[in-house]
Amino acid sequence: MSKEWINVADAERAATAALEPGPLGYFSGGAGDELTLAENVEAWGRWRFRPRVLVDTTATTTATELLGTPLSMPLIVAPVAFQRLAHPDGEIGMARAAAAADTLFCLSTLATTKPSELAAAVPAGRRWFQLYPFREEAVTRALVEEAVGCGFEAIVVTVDAPPAGNRERDLRTGFEIPAEVGVPSVAAAFGAERTVTVAEAFELMSPAVEWPDLAELAADSPVPVLVKGVLTAEDAELAVGHGAAGVIVSNHGGRQLDRSLATAEALSEVVDAVDGRAVILVDGGIRRGVDAAIALALGADAVLVGRPALWGLAAAGEAGARRVLELLQAELALALELCGCRAVGELGRGHVRRAPAAGVYSRP
Ligand SMILES: Cc1cc2nc3c(=O)[nH]c(=O)nc-3n(C[C@H](O)[C@H](O)[C@H](O)COP(=O)(O)O)c2cc1C
Repeated sequence: MSKEWINVADAERAATAALEPGPLGYFSGGAGDELTLAENVEAWGRWRFRPRVLVDTTATTTATELLGTPLSMPLIVAPVAFQRLAHPDGEIGMARAAAAADTLFCLSTLATTKPSELAAAVPAGRRWFQLYPFREEAVTRALVEEAVGCGFEAIVVTVDAPPAGNRERDLRTGFEIPAEVGVPSVAAAFGAERTVTVAEAFELMSPAVEWPDLAELAADSPVPVLVKGVLTAEDAELAVGHGAAGVIVSNHGGRQLDRSLATAEALSEVVDAVDGRAVILVDGGIRRGVDAAIALALGADAVLVGRPALWGLAAAGEAGARRVLELLQAELALALELCGCRAVGELGRGHVRRAPAAGVYSRP
């Protein structure tokens, strides 16, 4: 079935039909009025290409390298919590889809699969671990040690939570993660599996983390540490100054602070502030290969996708997530060729400019 999808919107429609109201609201929704959620998507559409022509693109490739890891494309799978609620294939299916696409999978702290289980199930897959520091430091330490010990190649510290954003869809549906689904990190913090709301899960995380804590983590870590959730030049500068190997421009897919900047709007100032001292990734609203191409042109080294891969997983398990990644890779390859680029590194600011009039063209 997923073979018939011709774009990410097809996967979204299929997932919307497949999911129960609670998980659907949790996976697709955002915070507050969901203005940032919508604007993340719209903001990529405010850019237009300045394509170059008469370039031999017979050998154009999307292949790249990120912090020493060779990848088939600069598009990786974002950390997304509770994936077994989307489909029984869960994080293992998602990681297999990423491995099949020869790209990276980032496991959430709030995964329904332990880092060691994931590594055992998908040993060849390249993987990063996303960290929310817990109030209880021993839980954090054990998680990081487990992940690093079983081949996770970077730690992504998410800094735009806790607390959880104001997710009104979850309040309306009464969304909870049932104890039987199993969230190993939450069970470790409580001492037993228990049914929790999203807000209760975030209550376990420390709101007291500051830049010196990041510096300590980066200094002690045997693998690179990236900071996810930066939207300003000021924080990008602090991240680099405190040892981050990478900065991820993100507003958590519009799920945390509604009315925060769309990531397409925040990206350029972060690129300028970092000035090549760390890798730069961006996520939020990437639904097309052309969105990814615009992000790369604006200076990102790679993009992450959250919901697109999740919709694929929810509708058709591992095969669905794989299909979404294939579609995005094919669209990105086409965008490169039509921009006259042979490699992702050739895309630059000269390939894009702001749309002459925003909002003139609507999306299909
Ligand atoms: C259902 C859902 C759960 C998420 N869980 C996490 C998480 O556990 N940790 C994290 O750092 N980000 C989490 N995110 C944010 C994603 O990593 C990413 O920033 C966001 O989804 C990108 O926007 P997009 O969905 O428009 O691609 C989650 C996003 C969604 C949609």
